[in-house]
Amino acid sequence: MALRKRLRPPRQPRPARRLPQALIIGVRKCGTRALLEMLYLHPMVQKASGEVHFFDRDENYALGLEWYRSKMPLSFKGQITIEKSPSYFVTPEVPERVRAMNSSVRLLLIVREPVTRAISDYTQLRSRATPSAPAHPALTAHPASDAAKPFEHLAISPDGSINIAYRPIAISLYHAYLHRWLEVFPREQILVVNGDLLIEDPVPQLRRIEKFLGLEHKIGRKNFYFNETKGFYCLRNDTTDKCLRETKGRKHPRVDPAVVTKLRKFFIQHNQRFYDLVGEDLGWPE
Ligand code: A3P
Repeated sequence: MALRKRLRPPRQPRPARRLPQALIIGVRKCGTRALLEMLYLHPMVQKASGEVHFFDRDENYALGLEWYRSKMPLSFKGQITIEKSPSYFVTPEVPERVRAMNSSVRLLLIVREPVTRAISDYTQLRSRATPSAPAHPALTAHPASDAAKPFEHLAISPDGSINIAYRPIAISLYHAYLHRWLEVFPREQILVVNGDLLIEDPVPQLRRIEKFLGLEHKIGRKNFYFNETKGFYCLRNDTTDKCLRETKGRKHPRVDPAVVTKLRKFFIQHNQRFYDLVGEDLGWPE
């Protein structure tokens, strides 16, 4: 018996579907897809393919954790599974639900300069808000009738005040959502990633993230090349080169510089509240 035991071949490690140990919680249009794809260059990272929307959509949450697990990729022991759904950040129920799954989950929050983010959001909503486009939850904030309106008319009310009811502006008020996460998770469990720096030079940002996730440093310059036509870095591993889809890195419409200045001024105090919450000044222009 003992001999037979000794002769048994060594056990092959078996992949399994595991609940995510890290989540990219948002913010939409700040580079959430780029961040996930870049992290996936790491051999110890596995990613859920689509946005699962488990924690923010009641109909999905009602299906339970085993349903969520079934949406996860296969991973080996020691690998980290990451899922991203940018609407997690702004949905009130999500922090508590995430904690109920795993109170030590690591959270990645990618942000961009708020006015740039708002214009990016407008650009995306406008591109989808055609009468023939299929219904999408985000469109309730941007009906087809808004499609033809310039950003300036949506972001600024007729009386000249900032239209904070306009979703692209509201979502850029990061502190308004972050405080809820900080009531549920300790600050050290949330890494704030500067999305503007990730666009400019991804490697130093990824190094920080690898450290935060407890991963060995593996993603380096060899994994990126700058694509002049796209105007962004594209990704490279041993077998393929890949740029993000054309819906990532869209051309933004020209926005009246006076409106940009007005919005930047409006955001100063809100950005300061965000810096105070995260304990870091992101240096956004005033
Ligand atoms: P724009 O299309 O407005 O430029 P998300 O994935 O969260 O929707 O974010 C989309 C944004 O990711 C894009 O907004 C783009 O600026 C940014 N981004 C960051 N790195 C990128 C990359 N390497 N390639 C393409 N887009 C990138």
